Amino acid sequence: MRKDGLHDPKSPAIKQLQEPREALSRLPPDTTGNMVRWVQALETGVIQPRPSLKPGVEAEILDRDILLDLKGSMPIILFPHKRHTQWLACANCHDGVFEKQTGATKMSMFQILAGEQCGICHGAVSFPLTECFRCHSVVRPGQVKPAIPPGLPRSHNLPGPP
Ligand code: HEC
Ligand code: HEC
Ligand code: HEC
Repeated sequence: MRKDGLHDPKSPAIKQLQEPREALSRLPPDTTGNMVRWVQALETGVIQPRPSLKPGVEAEILDRDILLDLKGSMPIILFPHKRHTQWLACANCHDGVFEKQTGATKMSMFQILAGEQCGICHGAVSFPLTECFRCHSVVRPGQVKPAIPPGLPRSHNLPGPP
């Protein structure tokens, strides 16, 4: 922190501030990205973020899983609304980034890797795009089950591949 060019190295506060590594070390560990399993941190109550800076605002949680790319070759993508709306208001995605209708938005891995669509956040602030099977998590019939890291919370309100 002393040498990050953001904090004043001469300030007396520099000795009181926690290093990010130290602060994050108390949270459930991940193997990638910023090394914290944020969904687990939230669900186990280790962190309790406020829905808004304004007092009295309630988070609007939508518990609805969306399956994307039903005809592709990779395992199907399961987009969990619940695990997003626990952090994010609808307006972050609707209707600027995604249509409010399954299948209406033309998505592609190319655009995602270019930092659009899911890539606005994944690879920037949420888990990185190298974790293919966290998104492509629903195996098609006959496909080998990909390795999803043990303990990774996932939605289970869908029966599996349609
Ligand atoms: C992180 C992004 C994100 C957030 C936040 C989000 N959504 Fe969505 N939503 C999506 C995506 C992706 C789809 C699928 C779009 C597509 O296939 O074109 C979708 C689809 C939908 C659909 C269509 C469902 C269907 O069966 O066709 C509705 C309704 C919807 N969202 C409502 C909401 C509401 C209400 C909120 C806030 C409580 C919300 N969404 C928050 C990304 C988001
Ligand atoms: C506006 C930001 C944003 C967008 C856009 C977004 N996500 Fe996320 N996503 C998050 C955050 C924040 C988390 C929770 C932190 C984490 O797991 O890294 C998350 C978590 C997830 C999880 C993990 C849920 C779990 O059970 O651990 C999946 C799967 C996921 N996103 C898929 C997608 C897919 C697929 C898209 C595009 C259709 C998408 N996300 C678009 C912000 C976003
Ligand atoms: C953040 C979520 C997410 C991650 C991580 C992710 N993908 Fe995707 N992927 C998507 C979405 C969303 C689509 C588009 C679905 C559609 O066509 O509606 C997609 C589509 C694809 C397609 C279909 C062809 C295309 O370009 O649309 C392939 C192949 C693919 N991904 C491979 C990968 C590989 C390989 C990785 C890991 C290196 C990966 N994906 C990681 C969300 C993700």
